Amino acid sequence: MKRTLLLLLFTYLTSWYIYGQGNKVDPGHLKYEGLALTPPMGWNSWNKFACNVDERLIKETADAMVASGMKDAGYVYINIDDCWHGQRDSPGFMHPNPDRFPSGMKALADYVHAKGLKLGIYSDAGWETCGGHPGSRGYEFQDAQMYAKWGIDYLKYDWCNTQGLNAEGAYMTIGAALQNAGRPMVLSICEWGDNEPWEWGKSVGHLWRTTGDIYNCFDCIKDYGSWKSWGVLQIFDMQKGLREYAGPDHWNDPDMLEIGNGMPVNEERAHFAMWSMLAAPLIAGNDLRNMSKETLEVLTNKEVIAVNQDSLGIQGFQYLPQNNKDLEIWFKPLQGGDWAVMFLNRGKTTQKVNFNWTKENVVDEIFDKAADFDKTTYTIRDLWSKKNIGTTKKAFKAEIPSYDVAMLRLTVK
Ligand code: GLA
Repeated sequence: MKRTLLLLLFTYLTSWYIYGQGNKVDPGHLKYEGLALTPPMGWNSWNKFACNVDERLIKETADAMVASGMKDAGYVYINIDDCWHGQRDSPGFMHPNPDRFPSGMKALADYVHAKGLKLGIYSDAGWETCGGHPGSRGYEFQDAQMYAKWGIDYLKYDWCNTQGLNAEGAYMTIGAALQNAGRPMVLSICEWGDNEPWEWGKSVGHLWRTTGDIYNCFDCIKDYGSWKSWGVLQIFDMQKGLREYAGPDHWNDPDMLEIGNGMPVNEERAHFAMWSMLAAPLIAGNDLRNMSKETLEVLTNKEVIAVNQDSLGIQGFQYLPQNNKDLEIWFKPLQGGDWAVMFLNRGKTTQKVNFNWTKENVVDEIFDKAADFDKTTYTIRDLWSKKNIGTTKKAFKAEIPSYDVAMLRLTVK
């Protein structure tokens, strides 16, 4: 009798233990908190290399990130996008393409980690990735286990071929799988803003794409028939109304940078300034092994990066749309009472600026910040010329060429 009771107790306790193992996911906490307190910075293969990825490119990019000074400027993630895939084995575990990644992902992660950098990978919630490789649908927990085993630090999770899936649910599943695998990873939600990820993404991931793909031009739309990709200005305009959703550890993602992929330097400067004002992830998308001095200077402008990486994590806003539709003025509250200001010339002709601070009243109602230029005088630093240019007692005067910016930092005197 005693033995039967003991056996029953043993069976009861082990079944609870096993049950508990399978259900250790807490749906309210599906992400590794604190991995992206400022917008993630790094590089991703897609914009420049599309499906031409292999271990040599990734290693050389890691080398170049260090040698160029980008690592020192804050870039840390080396993210492999689509097309790294080989086949699943018979139990269903995924392996990289052996021709492209002959040393395997673990060795690659070790190489990247030894440089003080982190490695990111890409998958898709559907049957297949956008490039037609095996997706994670039905294999989420196995894929997460492999990524953890390889030493992956960042997962971009795409949304092609997801017929019948609910976006929030699918991202919760991969979030749970990552939790279960036990290795902290940034989760980059990439469903192009189709299902309002800003409404639910915060508890699941660290950043969410707000739009379709960026296209390598400043002001254009690339129409592929069934879908479009968007120029820098077009994507910038699609960020309206979203700033209240972003903050430390949960960012709006207006897609990766096209800096260094052929735009003239004024447009690169404007692109970088806009993404910095938006507190957007700064994920370079060019060939780091081979970039011009101008491109490198844009990508590593530490004072502009400091605006992007400001610890308050507040996304900037457009200040009183001006009568002149070609000239936009943006403000971003920064820590310590500082402000970043951007004058963006989105038109085709040079624009004159004459901004008399003391006549303006800058209020951020959402994040409860205000700049009263009558009461407070700020010193002005030009973040591109890297010079102090006076104070807010005097009007700011400038001529801004087409598709260019002035970017300033105001500091309480
Ligand atoms: C989608 C994503 C892109 C890129 C490609 C890869 O289009 O939005 O950023 O990852 O898939 O196929």
